[in-house]
Amino acid sequence: ARAIKIAPSILSADFADFGAECRAIEDQGADWVHVDVMDGHFVPNITFGPATCAAIRPHIKGTMDVHLMIAPVDPYIAAFAEAGADILTAHVEAGPHLHRTLQAIRAAGVRPGVALNPATPASAVAHVLDLVDVICVMTVNPGFGGQAFIDGQLDKVRELRAMVGDRDIHIECDGGVDTTSAPRCVAAGADVLIAGSAAFKGGSVTEPDAYGRNIRAL
Ligand code: DX5
Ligand code: ZN
Repeated sequence: ARAIKIAPSILSADFADFGAECRAIEDQGADWVHVDVMDGHFVPNITFGPATCAAIRPHIKGTMDVHLMIAPVDPYIAAFAEAGADILTAHVEAGPHLHRTLQAIRAAGVRPGVALNPATPASAVAHVLDLVDVICVMTVNPGFGGQAFIDGQLDKVRELRAMVGDRDIHIECDGGVDTTSAPRCVAAGADVLIAGSAAFKGGSVTEPDAYGRNIRAL
């Protein structure tokens, strides 16, 4: 049986207090910290870039899982590698040369991931399975937290888990993951659950174990 990891997304954290937020979610049980980078071009929102990743790096003991919702990706790989990203996940849809991008991420000493938007079929990653450590299945349309889980994506998770076979690849569900959808993601074959609103809801860094309760409920 696969160990399930919880990766809270700091998109739902207090943007004025990222260091404290990262320390709090790790202290309260987060396995990875999911960092949603958005450029206002690939997705209709802007968050932060390499400088913020570098600033929060010292506050994250474990894995900094950087989700690049940007296009193009290649010009920024070095900066995110330098900032300390452990995983850099690029979107299939971000450009015409995914294979080269994933090779460049690995060459920069970072674990490569690939993300698929809801309309993108599992087959889109069939020829890069040997290049990635992580597949991120978007279970919402990327750009914002707090959206509703798209049920149909669970078929894609099942299909990807079958395609992966015995390769050591993590499959993430990203978006709308909460106490209802989380077990279904796991049943479909996901082993990393990314949660923004479900992890941070109703809590704050000053409220003891508020995040821990949310994380343990998933
Ligand atoms: C959306 C991001 C997700 C988002 C998840 O574009 O990639 O990681 O933060 O937020 P929730 O869990 O609130 O849907
Ligand atoms: Zn994300």
